Amino acid sequence: MRRKLAAGNWKMNGLSGQLTELEALAEAHPKPAVDVLICPPVTLLATAARQCPFDIGAQDCHANASGAHTGDVSAEMLRDVGAKAVIVGHSERRESYDEHSDIVRAKARAAQQAGLMAIVCMGESLAQREAQNTLDIIGGQLAGSVPDNATAENLVIAYEPIWAIGTGLVPSLAQIGEVHGFIRARLERRFGAGVGRGVRILYGGSVKPDNAAEIFQVPDVDGALVGGASLKAADFSPIINALEGA
Ligand code: 13P
Repeated sequence: MRRKLAAGNWKMNGLSGQLTELEALAEAHPKPAVDVLICPPVTLLATAARQCPFDIGAQDCHANASGAHTGDVSAEMLRDVGAKAVIVGHSERRESYDEHSDIVRAKARAAQQAGLMAIVCMGESLAQREAQNTLDIIGGQLAGSVPDNATAENLVIAYEPIWAIGTGLVPSLAQIGEVHGFIRARLERRFGAGVGRGVRILYGGSVKPDNAAEIFQVPDVDGALVGGASLKAADFSPIINALEGA
């Protein structure tokens, strides 16, 4: 059985005071029945990892372990300050920094080599969906972005349709199910049934307290990668509850 995962991606939000939201969340969920992962901005990562009972992750890493890369942070460094996971290939980074799948794959490999779980993101644009290219796009991103040495522990896939991120728009449950089923089949084909069935697949894009429960009923949705609604304990807590009840 795959253990469900509620992951929060704070993106570039949160000064030190934001950590009180984690305290409130920890009070509301002293013993969560699902995995809870918070990915704060890197400035808060070390403190959050020290203070917070949930696993802490980062939002990006460099593909190299060290070297002359001004401003970058390596997976080893993240691990060193307590991170357990790192998001790679988020569409905001693919778009803003021209990160292609080969870079994403190198980052995911670096994360796994440093002992971090890599959360590899993928998703289609609205134009790609309207042109009925969604599965081609996802298939290409999956093949290109996921390193070969995947295990159920070192890899999580996040399906995040770009048009659903921060927009309040959500695909239909059938659309989510189609893509998650497709990703599952591709993982099984590439890595074999054991690993392929063990890797968790998260849905991300406008997950909110009022739509989480129905999304979590979709087969092969093993949790969520939540942006805006992960910033406030009052919003993220009911999403955790919905996942526990799924
Ligand atoms: P929202 O939940 O704010 O739509 O963001 C989703 C996301 O991009 C998580 O990585």
